[in-house]
Amino acid sequence: MRMQAELPRHVAIIMDGNGRWATERELSRIEGHKNGALAVKKVIEAALEMKIPYITLYAFSSENWSRPKAEVDGLMHLLNQFLKQEQKTFLENQIRLRTIGRLDELPDENCKLIQDTIQKTKQFYRMHVTVALNYSSKNELVDAVKGMLRDAQLGKLNTTSLEYSDIASYLYTKELPDPDLIIRTSGEFRLSNFLLLQSAYAEIYVTPTYWPDFDQTDFQKAIDHYSSRDRRYGNVRPTI
Ligand code: FPP
Repeated sequence: MRMQAELPRHVAIIMDGNGRWATERELSRIEGHKNGALAVKKVIEAALEMKIPYITLYAFSSENWSRPKAEVDGLMHLLNQFLKQEQKTFLENQIRLRTIGRLDELPDENCKLIQDTIQKTKQFYRMHVTVALNYSSKNELVDAVKGMLRDAQLGKLNTTSLEYSDIASYLYTKELPDPDLIIRTSGEFRLSNFLLLQSAYAEIYVTPTYWPDFDQTDFQKAIDHYSSRDRRYGNVRPTI
């Protein structure tokens, strides 16, 4: 039987190009990020309409701390604004918020607002929005190994019969299905330390559109592209 993909269950997005979008308009980089936050709202709306249950957004990588302090502060401020404005949308639409990444290294105000929204939405399952914050796939693996070693010492993990599923249960994404589709905007063909293990079988869709210009129509195009793909998971296409 040919495995014909339909709608992806989990779409993960590398939101790139905010800076270039702003520079081309002679605006500050933070203006690019502000418009990027508007694109986030549009994509969540589109995913809700299309009944795509899992969306993961790469908002701040562990490497992004090396950007100028004003840009990092601006991004943290934007994130707070987004959470304050959008908590209502999450509650009204029964959207559950999660984060992946080392959250405790974020400023206190961010942590508090995020934890508050996570708590208030944890009973929802209509849609799951995960924001990658201070995220790095390599750090995720380090944290998983640390957790496994700790549990092994406590006798809670049998290390003689380890399977990938045991390791996956220590990843930040333990409650999420693997992404079916990774979208990257602004034309770069890279995964940039994002969900490296989880995207082993994901389709990758790269569009030249800068993230602030990415809208419902672009999202639909990415989904249509995915739906036309033939996913074989290492198998062959059977001859009839
Ligand atoms: C990459 O563009 C984008 C980021 C590092 C930040 C993404 C943040 C947002 C979209 C806004 C806030 C997010 C939420 C969830 C409210 P870049 O700055 O690397 O662009 P460039 O490569 O053109 O310089």
